[in-house]
Amino acid sequence: MCGIVGYIGKKKAVPILMDGLRKESYRGYDSSGIVVFEQGKPICLKAVGKLENLENRIQTNKYGSGFGIGHVRWATHGGVTEANAHPHCDCKENIFLVHNGIIENYRQLREKLVREGHKFSSDTDTEVIAHLIEKYFQGKLEEAVRKALRQVKGAYALAVIARDDPEKIIAARFSSPLIIGVGQNEYLVASDPNAIAPYAQKVIALEDNEIAIITPKDISILKEREPQDLEIEAEESEKGGYPHFMLKEIMEQPESIGSPLKGRLIIAQGLAKLGGLETVKEKLKNVKRLNIIACGTARHAGLVGEYMLEEYAGIPTEVEAGSEFRYRKQILDKNTAILAVSQSGETADTLGAIKEAKQKGMMCIGIVNAVGSTISRETDAGVYNHAGPEIGVASTKAFTSQLTVLALLTLLLGRQRGMSLVMGQRIAKEISRIPELVKKTLESEAQIKELAEKYKDFNNFAYIGRKYNLPIALEGALKLKEISYLHAEGMPAGEMKHGQIALIDENFPTVAICPSDSVYEKMVSNVEEIKARKGPVIAIATQGNEDIKKLVDDVIYIPKTLEMLTPILSVIPLQLFAYYVGLLRGCDIDKPRNLAKSVTVE
Ligand code: M6R
Repeated sequence: MCGIVGYIGKKKAVPILMDGLRKESYRGYDSSGIVVFEQGKPICLKAVGKLENLENRIQTNKYGSGFGIGHVRWATHGGVTEANAHPHCDCKENIFLVHNGIIENYRQLREKLVREGHKFSSDTDTEVIAHLIEKYFQGKLEEAVRKALRQVKGAYALAVIARDDPEKIIAARFSSPLIIGVGQNEYLVASDPNAIAPYAQKVIALEDNEIAIITPKDISILKEREPQDLEIEAEESEKGGYPHFMLKEIMEQPESIGSPLKGRLIIAQGLAKLGGLETVKEKLKNVKRLNIIACGTARHAGLVGEYMLEEYAGIPTEVEAGSEFRYRKQILDKNTAILAVSQSGETADTLGAIKEAKQKGMMCIGIVNAVGSTISRETDAGVYNHAGPEIGVASTKAFTSQLTVLALLTLLLGRQRGMSLVMGQRIAKEISRIPELVKKTLESEAQIKELAEKYKDFNNFAYIGRKYNLPIALEGALKLKEISYLHAEGMPAGEMKHGQIALIDENFPTVAICPSDSVYEKMVSNVEEIKARKGPVIAIATQGNEDIKKLVDDVIYIPKTLEMLTPILSVIPLQLFAYYVGLLRGCDIDKPRNLAKSVTVE
């Protein structure tokens, strides 16, 4: 995982930077680099692979500069190349910086900067920050950093230096740790205290939104960003040519799932690497039981997670709505951990449950999309979805991203608890294919639009599924209710005959999620029961299954994948179906009546 180190003082910076990088390298890295200024000229050295490769390029004692920054990188955005290694710089080789974290809106920022004439030399998200600082630089580095950070959305710990404003390091953080070490007439910056322990007697931990101006003589800290969100919203609120955010967010799922996967899968070793859980990785080995707390769509993701975690990691898992968890007697012990799932990270019911659990001394981890949100701060550790902002009230891309992160977590915990290497490799490889399979699934859009036309005038719908796809039946029904205001009920397919089947006639269609998996035959029997009562049926089935066509009225195909991952694909036609039915019925797609994007009341 990435590590930052910076030095400013009377000593030679290079040996101290290299020493710091060595101490940070235990976290895992694939390339490294440093930059110092010698007589106003930047000396920026980088190398792929072991730190020795960088050391071999540096004649450590040759450089006399008393300030500089360094980095060890673990690739996320952009491959393992020298060009992608940090430090990154602007067009004029004036601004240099190192960064930990992920800039979520880097694509939009990069496109804009390119239009303004900036030349990029890497594929990283980080480089946009250097060019943004360049854009605002007018002699005072801290001013330019402050303005640049107003534009970025995501997590960052940063150390920045400039040739044209020398003898100064600017450090800033948001949701990624960064500390300043105070030594004898010298200061250090690091993402890991180990890196600076020999030189610093005291440390200052930077807080979110703080920007530190560090000179050889002193430090001052600015609190930043409070009034800036509007500016960010304005940029992000573009619909990118789509008529609604909901459709845009459905269509961008290959990317919202794919981008965060970068750097999180090690296929050859059958492992998932989740940086946000590093601090609790050992503790997780002792967890005997998981309580997933979430609301609405996030709860449906949790229900899929329950199947994954029990089948592949062998951890007894229970899923509960935040609003229920808080007010009932819970039988919890110190080996139970809480896993909160939330897109916004602000949902009052989920937050209340976390507070309750923390009071009882439980370890709480989170899967959260909104960086820096309250839940991400209240939990002991967690994983960001990095799916990008979700604006449509109906959750779509956040849901598939939650499912993907739950699959990664299952892999991580499963491998800690005896999952074989072969099984780990199989799951990891299949997860890496998901963005491509999602893309293929989205090709059914035109067919789903036609189906929406055919079914839009029915007033009631049933959604049925089994095992991994039962939560998808619940989610499909919820999407239709939210967007089209039609009555829809999701239920276990096997439960139909115990009551609900009384509703079925030719005016009551059923959406049956029946991919070719371990419960396919059982699903077919339930579909037969509905057809025997003249109920129209739309099936979600696996590509290549021609038989199902003989039984049902309409089929939407999804690609074949591992059973535990099918929900990520099977939900997509249901999102599109809800969207087009709502559209045809003239509903307010992005702001459905009575609903709020972030539910901050109980
Ligand atoms: O932000 P959260 O994921 O915590 O939100 C939870 C629910 O309020 C949310 O999923 C809601 O059900 C959506 N409207 C579903 O589309």
